[in-house]
Amino acid sequence: MPISVGILTSGGDCPGLNAAIRAVGKAGLESMDMRLVGFRDGFRGLMQDRTLHLDRERLSNILTLGGTILGTSRDKPHRMPVGNQVLDMTDAMREVYEKHQLECLVCLGGGGTQKNALRLMEAGMNIITLPKTIDNDVALTDVTFGYDTALSIATEAIDRLHSTATSHNRVIVVEIMGHSAGWLALGAGVAGGADAILIPEIPYDIESVAEAIRKRTQHGKHFSIVAVAEGAMSVEESAKLEAAHEAKRKADGKKEKEQARERLTELEALHRGNTLRVTEQLEQLTGMESRLTILGHLQRGGTPSAADRLLATTLGVRCAELIGEKRFGVMVAARNGSTAAVPLEDVAGNRKSVPLDHPWLMTARRLGVCLGD
Ligand code: F6P
Repeated sequence: MPISVGILTSGGDCPGLNAAIRAVGKAGLESMDMRLVGFRDGFRGLMQDRTLHLDRERLSNILTLGGTILGTSRDKPHRMPVGNQVLDMTDAMREVYEKHQLECLVCLGGGGTQKNALRLMEAGMNIITLPKTIDNDVALTDVTFGYDTALSIATEAIDRLHSTATSHNRVIVVEIMGHSAGWLALGAGVAGGADAILIPEIPYDIESVAEAIRKRTQHGKHFSIVAVAEGAMSVEESAKLEAAHEAKRKADGKKEKEQARERLTELEALHRGNTLRVTEQLEQLTGMESRLTILGHLQRGGTPSAADRLLATTLGVRCAELIGEKRFGVMVAARNGSTAAVPLEDVAGNRKSVPLDHPWLMTARRLGVCLGD
């Protein structure tokens, strides 16, 4: 009697998703006659019961494919836009889960997906998650798949920016993704030899970045590469945001809560375009011609690196084993070169930021890289 298992990908796509889907499916077929039902476009496809049967043939030839053959979305089960309304569709999803007589639903996603998956678990579904995202900010896993590929892309971009920055004696600011974590900017910045690296975990003082660039000029270096995480913030911005978060935490009553939310949205909107501001400020403060490069979604596209294929495959195979063992309510994490099944409650709602004593930060400081502080 085959075991039916559902699978979906949710949140921003990343390289390695198809490798993980393939691994869950192939290992499941080998060991327990698994019938794998893919739901399209994340939790929305689950709600609408839009499926893709993942048989042997469909699982073939996808290991090296970027993106996700299932499609993805940022929809949340409990806040789903339906027509003009935003509704809690958790019950509708449980009905689909029951209709397919699923033994388990596997959710591949980042931080937001872990929270949403926990909600489905609390609504009575058997859930296993895998940690994916180029941001590498999922708690309790050493690394997420997607990160290594994005790291290589961002590093190569910095390499390429070096030659043009040198030729023109320019400052080139490069904006690197990562949401509110600095893993990608820090990793690519160190690997690519950036002269300044700004990450959300260390609020920056623009004058100290400008001073570092001026010093380079004094030492005969007439160009600089500044790697800026999209979530990096100045000391002032960071203080304002912290105050807004504090106000939201303390807000009492509907009106106050609404005002606090509006203030946060306003600050987040102001933060968009931050790297353009950094570029203009550096041009003004250093007198050097400055340019901005935003890497954007290039960092998420294309074929996964060997390391990401290996990680996604290892986690996917372990996921199939856990289904066989009926161990649900866990995320399959990467730990010390192996895997660990971590309770979903411990992962959901926690974000992995770059610790201030991380070896990469220490390495950058010892090399004289400006970290903005
Ligand atoms: O979480 C992955 C990520 O690429 C972040 O680095 C970035 O902030 C965000 O997704 C972009 O999201 P979207 O593709 O929805 O614009």
